[in-house]
Amino acid sequence: MAKLGIAEVMKCSIAWILLPGLGSLVSCTAKSDLDLRKIPYSLTLFQAPKPRDFPPMVVSRDNPLSVEGIALGKKLFFDPILSRDSSVSCSTCHQPNLAFTDALAQSKGMEGRLSPRSAMSLLNVGFYSKGLFWDGRVATLEEQSLHPVRTFEEMGENWARVSQKLQAHAEYPVLFRKAFGIMRRSEIDSTLVVKALAQFERTLISADTKFDRVMAGKETFSPNEKRGWTIFFDADAKNTPTSECNHCHVDPLFSTLAFENNGIEPGNEIQPLKDLGRGGVTGNVYERGQFRVPTLRNLAYTAPYMHDGRFKTLDEVLDHYQSGGHAGMNVSPNVRKLQLNKQDRRDLLAFLQTLNDDPDE
Ligand code: HEC
Ligand code: HEC
Repeated sequence: MAKLGIAEVMKCSIAWILLPGLGSLVSCTAKSDLDLRKIPYSLTLFQAPKPRDFPPMVVSRDNPLSVEGIALGKKLFFDPILSRDSSVSCSTCHQPNLAFTDALAQSKGMEGRLSPRSAMSLLNVGFYSKGLFWDGRVATLEEQSLHPVRTFEEMGENWARVSQKLQAHAEYPVLFRKAFGIMRRSEIDSTLVVKALAQFERTLISADTKFDRVMAGKETFSPNEKRGWTIFFDADAKNTPTSECNHCHVDPLFSTLAFENNGIEPGNEIQPLKDLGRGGVTGNVYERGQFRVPTLRNLAYTAPYMHDGRFKTLDEVLDHYQSGGHAGMNVSPNVRKLQLNKQDRRDLLAFLQTLNDDPDE
């Protein structure tokens, strides 16, 4: 089957579009650059969410949240149009019912290509102020969104083609007009696409788990959850064993957002690490094997665990921490052999379950 080149797609699709409020049929030429000015543009600004005890959200100065921008970002997020063969959307690897992960150790992109790492939950991503990705290699959500589209293992597309497809689309030009006040469809480009995606991502929030409700005084922990909470936060050293978890997984995000090496790999000079993590970005030998501390919210949905999905269950994760991990280079001193008995582990797990959002929320 012959594939239509992008120019032909444009010529023909524009011919059929009758935009609301415009009243005239657009002529069928690739050059035609529709005037969108007759479509009303009035933004409804949207206050960045600020859940109790959370740090301020990181919002780019030139990209204030708006109802129109968020709606456009949401549509783009779920639309495979961003991938080369229209088979993969952001939501392929970041599925809402899995706390925006994909249940895989290594994400699967276009044509089943495997990513080197496991997809990350996008809940509360708007609050991550110290770098995105497992290795913190990009600073903002806007910049982050540029990557998956053109990454071979993910969407395998290029931005020039994405812009052309969106410009020629029956619905998008109007939505871009409403979100960003563009005057012509040719103004649709990667900058606006990533702004919209970032706006949508900033609305993905987990702040109403049982843990949050207990902290707000609206609910109470069961005795086991309470004891697990005590162990997790090392809050009663006399009566419960320490776990050291809260050096790195602090509330309310359950991450310090720092880069740490939690000893899952025995890396040293002789046996190099497969994935250098933060060290691969900075070139600093002392940051090898460090990854951004992930949140512990929604663990019920985010298995398998760690940047490479090596642990299938939370029991395996606890086995790891209980053993003290590997004594490799750069392993944090806060990862050390723990004295947790079966009951301690059960209670710790009961506490971790209070960090899950309710399903279908
Ligand atoms: C093929 C699967 C796949 C697709 C498609 C995909 N992602 Fe991801 N995403 C990942 C993986 C894997 C990571 C972690 C990569 C790393 O750390 O190197 C990630 C990381 C992220 C992060 C960083 C989160 C954090 O906490 O630092 C954001 C934000 C994100 N993706 C948004 C998007 C958006 C927006 C799209 C669509 C434009 C998208 N992703 C498409 C797999 C995917
Ligand atoms: C020194 C800091 C540190 C300490 C202490 C620590 N963690 Fe972690 N944790 C991390 C880092 C870093 C990762 C990600 C490592 C990777 O992917 O390579 C992680 C990953 C995890 C994950 C996987 C999350 C996911 O989405 O993949 C779980 C679960 C977890 N830790 C639970 C705990 C528990 C429970 C404790 C206490 C027993 C604990 N951690 C102690 C730093 C720490």
